[in-house]
This record gives sequence, C-alpha cells and structure tokens, in this order.
Amino acid sequence: MNPSRVLVYIIGLLWLHLTDAKIGYFWHITDLHYDPFHNSPEFHRGCKHSRGNTEHSHRNGRHRDHTCDSSWSLIQSAAAFMSERHPDTLEFVLWTGDILSSSMEHMSEEFKLEAVRNVTDVLSRTFSSQFVFPALGHNDPPPSRRLVDMWMQWLPTEALRTFETGGYYTIEQSHSKLRIVVLNSVLWAGGAARSDGSHSHRGRAQWDWLEDVLLEARKKKEMVYLVAHAGPGVEERHNAGSSSASGGGELIPSANARLLHIIKGFSDIIAGQFYGHRHADTFRLVYRDGRPVSWALLAPSLTPRGAGSISNPGLRLYKFDSNTGKVLDYTQYYLDVTNSRGEVHWAVEYNLTQYYGLREVSATSLDALADKIRSHNDRGVFTKYITALRVRHSHDISDCDSACVHVHYCAITRADYHEFRACVRNPASALASRAAHNSAAILLHAILILLTS
Ligand SMILES: *[C@@H]1O[C@H](CO)[C@@H](O)[C@H](O)[C@H]1NC(C)=O
Ligand SMILES: *[C@@H]1O[C@H](CO)[C@@H](O)[C@H](O)[C@H]1NC(C)=O
Ligand SMILES: [Zn+2]
Repeated sequence: MNPSRVLVYIIGLLWLHLTDAKIGYFWHITDLHYDPFHNSPEFHRGCKHSRGNTEHSHRNGRHRDHTCDSSWSLIQSAAAFMSERHPDTLEFVLWTGDILSSSMEHMSEEFKLEAVRNVTDVLSRTFSSQFVFPALGHNDPPPSRRLVDMWMQWLPTEALRTFETGGYYTIEQSHSKLRIVVLNSVLWAGGAARSDGSHSHRGRAQWDWLEDVLLEARKKKEMVYLVAHAGPGVEERHNAGSSSASGGGELIPSANARLLHIIKGFSDIIAGQFYGHRHADTFRLVYRDGRPVSWALLAPSLTPRGAGSISNPGLRLYKFDSNTGKVLDYTQYYLDVTNSRGEVHWAVEYNLTQYYGLREVSATSLDALADKIRSHNDRGVFTKYITALRVRHSHDISDCDSACVHVHYCAITRADYHEFRACVRNPASALASRAAHNSAAILLHAILILLTS
C-alpha cells in the first residue's frame, strides 16, 4: 500500500473517532469497456458487432455513439466528473470489471495489460487518497503477477495473496465492522475458460474460501458486502443460464444455485451485494421461506454499448453508514449521449430512495418495490424502472405489454434459474408462490391447480 494512502486512512480513522461520524460514500463504477481503437478508421472494432454498421459509428465519432465501447475521452470525462463530485467522506471505490472492450479479446496479453494499466493510472490519479477495489470481469486479463503489481497500491498483502492465484480477496475495514468480499465470478462462469481444468480447480477453491470468510465474519460480528462482476440471477432478455450476447460471463447453473444457497445461509451478515455485468440499472432479491432476505443492486455500465441494447453511461455514488455498512441511498449520475449538443455534461439521474419513494434500502422495501413494478393498476413505477434500466436512453415503454412487465418482475425476484423459468411460464403460480405464507394465496393456488389440471 502506498504510504500517503495509509496516512490518509489513519487520519480518517482518527477523525471518525473524534466526531463519531457515520455517513460515508463510495463509488461503484463498472463495465468501462475501454476501446483503444475507438473511432480509429482502420479498426473501430468496439463498434462493429452490435449493429454491424461500422460506417455509422465512425461518422458520429467520439463517445457520442451508442454502438461503440468507451473511448479514452469518455473514461477521462468520467474520471474528471468523479474527482469534481468527490465528497469529503469518500471511503473507497468498487470497480467491478470488464475494464476492456470485448473487441480486444484477440489482442495480445501484453496489449491488454497496457490498456488496463492506462485505466488504472487514471483511477489512481482520480482517487489519490482512496482505495479502489477491483473485481475481474470476463473481458479482463486473468489474475497474474503483473496485475498484482498494478493493483498493490490498493490491496493489502493478504488480499494480494488470494488475488494472484484466484482473482478474489477480502478487505477488512479496520475502523468499522464492514468486510468487503470481492469474488472472481469468471471462475464460476461458462465460456471457453470452463474447459480448463485449473480453472475449475480454482473455482472450487473460491467456494471453500468464501464459506470460510463468511463463517469468520459471522464469528467476528462483521457485516459483509459481496462484490463481483457477475452476480446471481438472470438477464431478463435472455434464457436463464445461457451465455448472453455480452460474450458470456453468466454463472453456470450449479454456481448460480450454490451462490444463492450461500447468500441465504449468510443473509444475516450480508449488508449488500454489488454487481455489474448486465449493462443495466436493476436489482435482484433473494428469498428464504418466501421472505426477502437479501438484495443485490446492479450498477449500469460506463460504456454506452450493451448486449443487444444501448444505454447512457452511468456512475453511481453510494451513501452508507460506514460503521455498520448499512446502505442509505445512492445517487445515479449519467451522461446523456444522444441529446448533448457536443458538450459533455454529467448530471444526476436520480436518487434511489426519493425516486421510488423508499423509506430505506432493505430487502423488504425492495420487495415492495418489485410488487409495484409489476402492478397493473399503476404503470408509473414500472415506467420509472424501465427508464432507469437503460439510464434514460429513450425506450418506448408502450412496447412492454403485461407479459413483458411480468418477465422483468421474474428477473428481479427469481434469481434461481429454474424458478425464473417457472415464473415466466406461469404468471399465476408466480403470484401464488410469492405469497406462500399467506394461506388465502395457497388456497387460490390449489384452486388454480385443480382448474388447470
Ligand atoms: C496507454 O497510454 C500511453 C501513454 O499515454 C499511450 O501511448 C498508449 O497508446 C496507451 N495504450 C493503450 C492501449 O491505451
Ligand atoms: C440526491 O442526493 C445528492 C447527494 O445526497 C444531493 O446532493 C442531491 O441534491 C439529491 N438530488 C435530488 C434530485 O434529490
Ligand atoms: Zn460488460
């Protein structure tokens, strides 16, 4: 760790003790997808897959085109905005992977590492006195000594030990009861890497490690943030468990089920889950015995380019109680790429609690929100959700009929792949099983079964 960061950290600690201040902030940035060939006439590779129209992207240029991954100037503008918007009590930054454009897949390891270094340097300058906690995505180079060297400014020695071999680590916040657990979801995902034996060995090691870390945290009465590139659950536009157009990275079904099982088992100490990967602003809920016990908030990407969809670039600033880790709110910022008249203007998109009228950020309040999103009587909340989903990129919500709304609802509330498919197939049973503790609903369910059998 760099000595100036350690000093700032110690001063922060003392300050916390003196003032008993609790409110802290952290950024969550994800899916930067830096494309070094952005707008280059010979390459512009990061633009070519989604629309098959490379001419278009080249003509529009800069980062004003939704079919291209992030240009260097988009990354710089995001960094400049974050340093300007810096709260005094910014504690850390979660950086959940997919640093590089998927168009760089076939480039040399050397070149990819150079690109990662350039992005690392920008973040290091932007957050000169904070720690950045990176998680690896499926478009990133695998863990290595060279990544360790790049990120040792942010990670303590014990973290680097597991990071170097598996790409996962845990950070103990010494001044609070919050522990950050960063997973390497790539080890549990499908795709080419799966056939590699050492890969599955490391995937198994990560399970054992995760369970040990959570048991230890419970013993020490710590609260935990689970952080990874890809989290459990499905993408509403894809089949559960299939690899998405974003180039894979989805958890394989057995990993998804096992992670959900662990989350249920440790929901008492999990204060939040933070994922990227979907290039969408959404959330997922985990239930145990029909009750919501844990939430995951998914931050939208910095890149405007999605998997079969497009969105505005987003950056998210969380507000939390830094003693307990309780998340209080977040502010979602965005850059309107289509409407900007050439100038780059980052703005507040919304604040979570105010936007949806939540009294707090909890599994219970987000479960109530999921019900409102599905509501047939009031499309207002669904409209807000679908507007935020692609970061205010114009989306014609009249396309989304009630079956489509229901699929969104299933994606939010059914992180288990089988349950998701069952929910989508059968809206009536979805309603009934969610209210399984409600005997009237069970009766209704029974009647429905009798009627349909
Ligand atoms: C990294 O930054 C250096 C210095 O600005 C630049 O020359 C190089 O082209 C960049 N490489 C990539 C892959 O972004
Ligand atoms: C959202 O929250 C931020 C930070 O707490 C605050 O400065 C801002 O005024 C809020 N914006 C809106 C639109 O409520
Ligand atoms: Zn991505």
